[in-house]
Amino acid sequence: MHSPDLTPEELLTTTRAVRKRLDLERGVDIDIIKECIGVATQAPTGGNTQGWSFVVVADAGQRAALAELYRRAWKIYKQAPGSVYDLFAQEPSGARKDQFGRVAESADYLVEHLHRVPVHVVPCIGGRVDRISGDFASVGLASVYGSILPATWSFMLAARARGIGTAWTTCHLMFEEEAAGILGIPYDKISQVALIATAYSIGTDFKPSLRKPIDDILHIDRW
Ligand SMILES: Cc1cc2nc3c(=O)[nH]c(=O)nc-3n(C[C@H](O)[C@H](O)[C@H](O)COP(=O)(O)O)c2cc1C
Repeated sequence: MHSPDLTPEELLTTTRAVRKRLDLERGVDIDIIKECIGVATQAPTGGNTQGWSFVVVADAGQRAALAELYRRAWKIYKQAPGSVYDLFAQEPSGARKDQFGRVAESADYLVEHLHRVPVHVVPCIGGRVDRISGDFASVGLASVYGSILPATWSFMLAARARGIGTAWTTCHLMFEEEAAGILGIPYDKISQVALIATAYSIGTDFKPSLRKPIDDILHIDRW
């Protein structure tokens, strides 16, 4: 598998949520994951606090335990208002509906196969995000999530640059404390923010995806 030769813009516009094209037969060397995490730690953090940690899960038993928990969470998510399944049902026919349908189908595939994805990466941040409260809670939340989510995306970009596909997931956080138990994460002190399914991609030819038109989302000088 060769690494794709991508310009910065191609990298940024073609790093897709890879689910059906994760190569479940090929392992990923821990050293390459370390390289990607090294890239990720060049991301910004509030006050340069660098309160991040990354739990890289390669052990088959640990992955199976996380996948089981993810499956349970997904059943709940599927019934939730605002889920991609709900959005699919509500959307009139057209490109958006087709896209929701594809995401739902692909997400179902991941649920079925997550235990076989060779590496799960769980990015974490110091502190409990669910305990941030008070007058300036929004600043705290923005700062804490803002100090781990850019690094998480950087990890995914660095992986893509090396021919590795990733899928950002959050569903397992419904049972975050249980996942903390599985992974030995001190739940009282550390928040998990995602589970990144990580494997070599089958082929590296990903394309930009349908997005809302810029004019629908851009506000210049005033909302
Ligand atoms: C915060 C966040 C949470 C997500 N959670 C899940 C998830 O639990 N399961 C899943 O299959 N995909 C999840 N995704 C992936 C999105 O479905 C995907 O990014 C979206 O459909 C757009 O597809 P693209 O990334 O290929 O452009 C998540 C993405 C983000 C950014």
